[in-house]
Amino acid sequence: MAYMHALIVHCHPEPASFNSALTEVARATLREQGYSVDVSDLYREKFDPCEGPEHYTHREDGAKFSPLGEQRYAFSTNTVPEDVQREISRLIRADLVVFQFPIWWHGQPAMLKGWFDRVFVSGGLYTSTMRYDRGYFRGRKAVCSVTTGAPEIAFGPGSRGGEIERILWSIQYSLHYLGFRVLSPFAAFGIQGHGYAYSDEDSNNRRLILYRDTWKERLQQLDRDTPLEFQGWDDWNADGRAKAVRT
Ligand SMILES: Cc1cc2nc3c(=O)[nH]c(=O)nc-3n(C[C@H](O)[C@H](O)[C@H](O)COP(=O)(O)O)c2cc1C
Repeated sequence: MAYMHALIVHCHPEPASFNSALTEVARATLREQGYSVDVSDLYREKFDPCEGPEHYTHREDGAKFSPLGEQRYAFSTNTVPEDVQREISRLIRADLVVFQFPIWWHGQPAMLKGWFDRVFVSGGLYTSTMRYDRGYFRGRKAVCSVTTGAPEIAFGPGSRGGEIERILWSIQYSLHYLGFRVLSPFAAFGIQGHGYAYSDEDSNNRRLILYRDTWKERLQQLDRDTPLEFQGWDDWNADGRAKAVRT
C-alpha cells in the first residue's frame, strides 16, 4: 500500500470513555495498516468551537461581523486563526479522516459542530463552485464512528432512538459537500452506565469488547468499503433540483 495518512478527530471530554477507547483502537489499527496517524483531541486541546469576532484580528469589516465574510477575508489575507490553521494543516495531510464522537441529542456534540463551523473556512475549503463532487477534499475518505446510549433495537426505522442515517445526515452531508467520499458509519449502540444501563455489567463489558473488535476489523478492511451514495453536480438542474429522483 502507498504511504497513507489518517486524521482522527476525537470528540469526547473524558480520556477513560468508551469513545477514547475506540479512538485508541483506530490509532493502533490504522498504524498496523501502514497509516501514519494524527489525532485532533478537541477537548484536550481546548478547541474553541464558537465562531465569533474575537478570532479575527484583521477584519474586512470592523463594524459588523459577518462569519462568512471574515472567513473568506482571513483565508485570502493569510490571517486564518491559528487554531483553525492547525486543524486545516492536519486535514490537508490526511487521506482518511475518522470522526469519533458520542451521539448527544440526536446529533454530534456542540464541540464537533463548532469545529466544522470554524475549520471548514468559506472561500478556502469550499466555494460556490468547489463543493460536492468538485469539493476541496475530493479523493479523500471520511468515516464517522459513533456511540449511542440507547440500544441497537431503538435505532431501526420508526424506532424511538431515530434512524442512524438521519441522525448523521447533517455531518455526513457536510462531508460530501466538502468533497469527501463518505464511508458508512460505525455505531456502537447501548454504551451506557450511570443509571441508564440496559443490561447488567457483565453483558455490558462483553458488548464493549465486541464493539472494539468489530471496529478493528472494519478498519482493517476500509479499503474495500463502498462509499455512501450522494448526488453530485450532474444530478441537479440549474436550480439545484434533482433531474431525477434516485431510487
Ligand atoms: C448531552 C447528552 C445527550 C445524549 N443524547 C443521546 C441521544 O440522543 N441518543 C442516545 O442514544 N444517547 C444519548 N446520550 C448518551 C450517549 O450517547 C452515551 O452516554 C455515550 O454514547 C456513551 O459513550 P461514552 O461512554 O464514551 O461517553 C446522550 C448523552 C449526553 C451526555
